Amino acid sequence: MPFVKDFEPVSLRDTNLFEPIKIGNTLLPHRVVMAPLTRMRATHPGNVPNKEWAAVYYGQRAQRPGTMIITEGTFISPQAGGYDNVPGIWSDEQVAEWKNIFRAIHDCRSYAWVQLWSLGWASFPDVLARDGLRYDCASDTVHINATLQEKANEVNNPEHSLTKDDIKQYVKDYIHTAKNSIAAGADGVEIHSANGYLLNQFLDPHSNKRTDEYGGTIENRARFTLEVVDALIEAIGPERVGLRLSPYGTFNSMSGGAEPDIVAQYAYVLGELEKRAKAGNRLAFVHLVEPRVTNPLLDEGEGEYYEGTNDFAYSIWKGPIIRAGNYSLHPEVVREQVKDPRTLIGYGRFFISNPDLVSRLEEGLPLNKYDRSTFYTMSAEGYTDYPTYNEAVELGWDKN
Ligand code: PHB
Repeated sequence: MPFVKDFEPVSLRDTNLFEPIKIGNTLLPHRVVMAPLTRMRATHPGNVPNKEWAAVYYGQRAQRPGTMIITEGTFISPQAGGYDNVPGIWSDEQVAEWKNIFRAIHDCRSYAWVQLWSLGWASFPDVLARDGLRYDCASDTVHINATLQEKANEVNNPEHSLTKDDIKQYVKDYIHTAKNSIAAGADGVEIHSANGYLLNQFLDPHSNKRTDEYGGTIENRARFTLEVVDALIEAIGPERVGLRLSPYGTFNSMSGGAEPDIVAQYAYVLGELEKRAKAGNRLAFVHLVEPRVTNPLLDEGEGEYYEGTNDFAYSIWKGPIIRAGNYSLHPEVVREQVKDPRTLIGYGRFFISNPDLVSRLEEGLPLNKYDRSTFYTMSAEGYTDYPTYNEAVELGWDKN
């Protein structure tokens, strides 16, 4: 693979990106965060993190001491899943491998945060049916798309609006896996309430048509996410919990900025977090997907939403904010945004192809291109074989 062409790297050494910041119980020496990245290398059956490659992959990306790594989305239960090659952290076998991964990260003096994930309507109804599991959602009167709706009907596993008892079980599973994460050595967890997955399906008025206390109003739509937040504050302490939101996202059939209630919805959630903070329970961070990326499957720079910003979050939530979305090729935007002393920057796709990304950002070095065709393949290729800058120069990548 060559370096990225038509990109003028700029050193960010003299910006706040390389100033320390406290996140939960950890003092980070810099603010480059590895964003959660689905890689589909876990083994089936059992959703076990890949025993051969995963610790190597994470260790490579943790090589710069003090890097905050948010893991790939990790299922809280079989019912929350449905992708065979995504890891979970509910079973002993999974936890044993996560211990190796956290050790590899900590050996570099970096930090590990586990992203806790439930799919809801973004799952595969046929895979769930194979395993005797429901196809869950906020409201079964709306569908993610015609293809999955038809598939669900074909395999006789139609969408299931969660009952209140189902919601209680999900909350228990978040607690169980948050405790497992900490017991296995993680520094904290991130609740995934973004990108159109289950918790986001409850937040969005397009996917949530409920008439009980989990739908119908801004407060009610936020209830499930806030119940998970409160349960994890209680279970592992607020300083070990972060929350990811994507106000403008349209991935997995979310409304995005076109919905007039959207900013109000997220302002409410952030206000509730700030109330908890004022009462002594400040979460470690809020992680926002920027309107720079409304659909993570699109190419770099595509699908940007120009009619809204996440700036409102700063007026409400007074703790640390990680901003993520197409920053690697835009150091000029990073330079501007990190002027705010509470801001960290999440880097995703270019952390896949640049294990030494932090040092490249600091020094203003060229970036390895990534190969999207190996993002989700069951191979070491495209996973543990991307070179550092010096290795890439030795390989002649700078001349390609
Ligand atoms: C994905 O697998 O494409 C994916 C997963 C989680 C996200 C976004 C995208 O939050």
